[in-house]
Amino acid sequence: MIKLDTNFVRSQFPAFSEPSLEGFAHFENAGGTFACGQMIDSLHRYYRETKVQPYYGFEPSHGAGLQMDRARARMAEWLNVAKDEVQFGPSTSQNTYVIAQALQHHLEPGDEIIVTNQDHEANVGVWRRLEAEGMVIREWQVDPQTAQLNPADLDRLLNKRTRVVAFTHCSNIVGSVNPVREWTDKVHDAGAIAIVDGVSYAGHGLPDVEALGTDIYLFSLYKVYGPHLGVMTMRKTINEQLPNQGHFFNVDHTTARFTPAGPDHAQIASVNGVMDYFEAVYSHHFGDDDVTSLHKTSRLRALFQHTERRNLKPLLEFLNQHHAVRLIGKDATKLRAPTVSFTVEGRDPADVAAALARQKIGVGNGNCYAWRLMEALGIPPHSGVVRLSFVHYTKKEEIDRLMEALEKVL
Ligand SMILES: Cc1ncc(COP(=O)(O)O)c(C=O)c1O
Repeated sequence: MIKLDTNFVRSQFPAFSEPSLEGFAHFENAGGTFACGQMIDSLHRYYRETKVQPYYGFEPSHGAGLQMDRARARMAEWLNVAKDEVQFGPSTSQNTYVIAQALQHHLEPGDEIIVTNQDHEANVGVWRRLEAEGMVIREWQVDPQTAQLNPADLDRLLNKRTRVVAFTHCSNIVGSVNPVREWTDKVHDAGAIAIVDGVSYAGHGLPDVEALGTDIYLFSLYKVYGPHLGVMTMRKTINEQLPNQGHFFNVDHTTARFTPAGPDHAQIASVNGVMDYFEAVYSHHFGDDDVTSLHKTSRLRALFQHTERRNLKPLLEFLNQHHAVRLIGKDATKLRAPTVSFTVEGRDPADVAAALARQKIGVGNGNCYAWRLMEALGIPPHSGVVRLSFVHYTKKEEIDRLMEALEKVL
């Protein structure tokens, strides 16, 4: 396995040479990653050179539209979906909200929706609200000890009235990578559709959405080195079946039907910067061989995840052996993202985070909008957990520094 050149990847992020961030260790990447320089440059260029209404025949309007189209096409190729299966919306929460509005008019009273209590609320609350329209909500619950979802429980919940199953690719608290394909197959066998939240997964390597078999897959680019923008892939057949949520005259406009808020043109164009970053990392490590974007997606994903797992191992071991720590989720790196949550006996997570902040280490704390998961695990949602999350650009030295700081703080 090729080793990730951490110095190279860090050189692509202005934050790592920003004087005001000198000495800061970023361990809140599940909340938002640093932005790559290519994306910041794209955004800057768009505002300077093409900040007009796109898609008219005059320059710079024509050029603005071309950048937006190119961003969509490139993202689609990397995700292995057709380009009109990619929707850009303001955020994942906004995207699920719009789909819930569409489902309200598509489903019938008595139709069943399965939600989990492992998910972020963005992939739960909007579906639960459909109960008011007569839909029946079933909850697929985590094991309160392990925080994992058991597929046998899904089997018990699925039935001939099930229309939708919403679950996460990777919980923003538990960190387990769920076997999406196995679960989507079950969902499809039952005649339902699978809506999958990939927000806490995508920063660790873009997925092959076709291979996952999801009907709707969502993630947020501000956690994938990019702008504050939501990506939603949607199978063409689902797009055709669900009622239009855009202006009436856009009824046949595939990429406008589920984005009623006008898209942020500059941010869409800047997705090219994110793709440029991935291209740059790919070429640096694997050369400029003529392979498909899908091939690049899978090689980079493997490279990122291999690097992350190497750094994750000592951190999990450290937390697991600490007498006062309750580690949430698996204590092994297999099928686990480097999003690590824990509570400390007798300590408020906010105090632990504040003590780390004093050492210039940024970590998350609270329920991170996974309120129901906190309740399921017997953790008060108002105080929640301490969450440490990192990505491929995180250095081993930073992990060591984090563990030394934790040693003193806990
Ligand atoms: C797992 C997960 N799903 C969904 C969301 C919501 O994403 P957005 O902020 O784009 O609405 C988040 C945000 O933190 C998240 O972590």
